[in-house]
Amino acid sequence: MEWSPDKSSRVPVYIQIADYFETRIVNGEYPSGSSLPSERALAALLEVNRSTIVSAYDQLNSLGLVRRIKGLGTVVNLQASEEGIVKRVPNWEEYVKGGFLPLNDPLTRRIHKIVGSDKPYINFAIGELSADLFPVTLMQEAHSQLEITQYLGYEHIQGNLKLREAIANHLETHRTIKSSSSSILVTSGAQQAIQLIVQSLLKSGDAVAIEDPSYSYSLPIFHSAGLKTYRLPVEDEGIDPEQIVSLYKQHRIKMVFVNPIYHNPTGTTLSCERRKRLLEISTKYGIAIVEDDPYSLTSYDQQSVSTLKSIDQDGSVLYVSSLSKIVSTGLRIGWIAGPQSVIQRLTDAKQQLDFGHSNISQWIASQLLTSRELDNHLARLRIGLQKKLELTVEAIRAEMGDEARFNIPLGGIHLWCELQGEWDELRLFDLAIGNGVIFTPGSTLGSSDRHIRITFSKMEDHLIAKGISGLAAAYRAAKAAR
Ligand SMILES: Cc1ncc(COP(=O)(O)O)c(C=O)c1O
Repeated sequence: MEWSPDKSSRVPVYIQIADYFETRIVNGEYPSGSSLPSERALAALLEVNRSTIVSAYDQLNSLGLVRRIKGLGTVVNLQASEEGIVKRVPNWEEYVKGGFLPLNDPLTRRIHKIVGSDKPYINFAIGELSADLFPVTLMQEAHSQLEITQYLGYEHIQGNLKLREAIANHLETHRTIKSSSSSILVTSGAQQAIQLIVQSLLKSGDAVAIEDPSYSYSLPIFHSAGLKTYRLPVEDEGIDPEQIVSLYKQHRIKMVFVNPIYHNPTGTTLSCERRKRLLEISTKYGIAIVEDDPYSLTSYDQQSVSTLKSIDQDGSVLYVSSLSKIVSTGLRIGWIAGPQSVIQRLTDAKQQLDFGHSNISQWIASQLLTSRELDNHLARLRIGLQKKLELTVEAIRAEMGDEARFNIPLGGIHLWCELQGEWDELRLFDLAIGNGVIFTPGSTLGSSDRHIRITFSKMEDHLIAKGISGLAAAYRAAKAAR
């Protein structure tokens, strides 16, 4: 080889080597299927470290010019058309490894794949309502009144004004939260609300606290944004606010994410005393609180639990909620209520992301929230959810007795079960799938693998016992396999 890299150049040596081979591959000097020199031989020839050659070949690989094949080395990978024109097909395998958003964990991906398939699984994994709990008539009525001609342009980025007014009114009447249309941003579910908060109000390296276990744990956004996350164990009365003080002293945490009422996955509610203490700590140390509250209206005994936001006198809480768990996940209507400067900032971010939420679902949501029938729907929903919980608990007790331990929640849609004995989480998951049942493994929510989350809201009543029976059989088989 007559060529050698210019070691005094500002262009890194590995890039020079990759450029050299790129030109020769494209010129046909290295035809498709031929091998490039071995890493070791080339390193000796060019008098560079072998790692420099590895980087150069990795670069060619990511450009789709070569494949790294075990046993064969680095092989040129070009396709020539019938006319002999060489094509460089983008290396999609490399692309899909990139991106700012990391992949979900493998178990979560499997759950979504199964749910997306058309096989009829008994689904205890996904947090949504069953067909019999959706307010179908209410939705149809709202839909039939849609004046489509007025609703075909971009909607106000912050959200349709009528909907924001309806949300403000709903927050006051149903959750004793004072807000106004200008302090609310409509989002694509609570999920997007959390994403916007993370991406717009925090920066890489910031420290935040999340509950352990929690829904927040399952979101890759906390990691992809480069945040340092510290975990607050969820006890029977929710998180211990005093731990936030020590986290603040050690790590200067900037924000705490809590789901205080009928927590996902444990079903617990932060006690009144702890709610007050959390607010005191927030204002003493200037730590922002994000209250994620999709479940407070699902209390089975109709008793409302005060949200943090409703007792927050100082404006330290950003309140996040949605219609997903009380009306429909598919509408994708969520919101954030908070100080106007924050809402303006998040609105700007939402414009960058999606130019505002679908106007049609916003219109339907505003009709629903202002309907006199909503309260009747909520009353039916609570009764329906409680019945599903009771059927689930009854079936678990019959099938697993003391081997499954849990606290019975007073609201929400999840049952957090600790399964006794020795069993392997992945094996249990696979065996349950084999029995036609899916559930959420505890590790996806940050817990040790002793727990599973059984979400009972999605299954029709008559399938619950069958599903628990399939799960219990899988559990027995998983234990036997140890
Ligand atoms: C605690 C919590 N927050 C947020 C979400 C996201 O819900 P959505 O985006 O459908 O409103 C969920 C969904 O399960 C949840 O349990």
